[in-house]
Amino acid sequence: MNLFDVYPINEITIVKAKGSYVWDDKGEQYLDLYGGHAVISIGHTHPHWVKRIEEQLEKIAFYSNSIRIPLQQQLAEKLGKLSGKTDYQLFLCNSGAEANENALKLASFHTGRKKVIAFSKSFHGRTSLAVAVTDNKNYVAPVNETDNVIFLPFNDADALESCFKKEGKEISAVIIEGIQGVGGINVADDSFMRKIRSLCDEYGAVYIADSVQCGYGRTGKFFSHDFAGVNADIYSMAKGMGNGFPVAGIIVAPHIKPKHFQLGTTFGGNHLACAAALAVLEIIEEEKLMGNAVMVGKYLRDELESIPELENVRGRGLMIGFDVPAELKDLKKNLLWNQKIFTGEAKPNVIRLLPSLALKKRDAEQFIESLKEEIKNLVSTTTPVS
Ligand SMILES: Cc1ncc(COP(=O)(O)O)c(C=O)c1O
Repeated sequence: MNLFDVYPINEITIVKAKGSYVWDDKGEQYLDLYGGHAVISIGHTHPHWVKRIEEQLEKIAFYSNSIRIPLQQQLAEKLGKLSGKTDYQLFLCNSGAEANENALKLASFHTGRKKVIAFSKSFHGRTSLAVAVTDNKNYVAPVNETDNVIFLPFNDADALESCFKKEGKEISAVIIEGIQGVGGINVADDSFMRKIRSLCDEYGAVYIADSVQCGYGRTGKFFSHDFAGVNADIYSMAKGMGNGFPVAGIIVAPHIKPKHFQLGTTFGGNHLACAAALAVLEIIEEEKLMGNAVMVGKYLRDELESIPELENVRGRGLMIGFDVPAELKDLKKNLLWNQKIFTGEAKPNVIRLLPSLALKKRDAEQFIESLKEEIKNLVSTTTPVS
């Protein structure tokens, strides 16, 4: 049997990982500024995370949600403490798409309405509702097409207001990433998020903060939506939550009440996933990783902004993007093959940095040095000799 070929892959086989580094099967070391797509939050194979999972594995890995699992309550308490949303309610599932799927479904149950507002360049996942609110036709199968989703321009408060004026009574939810990831690191304006809050309040709609990529401390605040100083009704989370162990969830504001059987999952919230997620939160707190994300993120932003060839450096904390001009189109590839540094990308010309929140300053310095070297090489090969 062959694999179903849906991923364009780099011909590299990673066999070992530690902190911000990974090693291939030939022993070559790579600096990981991609974090396996923003997943590695506390660093690869963190000893506390490994120990917590190993110890849990020896006890029990899984039992269904038909019994009490105290680890889930411990996780909810820790998550409440670190995020500051102590009165929210946690529902656990397995992936970012599933989290958004549940958030959108819950909003519809709660309001009894069908329509959802989403924004240009959004990415919310590949399952039916999640992909329906994703602004990329390539991912939307005919069966996912629906008239229930209204796409509006990102950060356009006037468009949002007139949409609510026209259809406000039918709007179930507004879903927005605090910083668009797949869309190319586009930061939602604080004033725009506040506008979403006030319009949702006025018209009785649910504000869903997709924090799958931009959340879990990556920006220096637990949820990047927090920069706006207002709360969302539902936050979805996944990637950094398990540091690579598949675990996801939504947290739900207290005014949205649960009903038995409305939401559910077989694997979500299993013992092993909770142990992994608890280990992540313990390390984020103990090693003050949100502070580190701010400090190393600022260093990277300042350095990147001082490189004249790079355009529009943007982001928050350790979620950073910049545009690469046409003559540097091979930059990401060259960083990987010449400098052994993984970075992320967003089409057509954005490089994304999504490293572990524990990235050390000296690793960031090494990246900047390597980046400058590769830019110099590319500029010298594309500049005609006069
Ligand atoms: C903002 C956002 N939401 C949702 C998802 C979907 O998450 P998953 O791939 O775990 O289903 C992603 C994945 O990249 C994402 O970036």
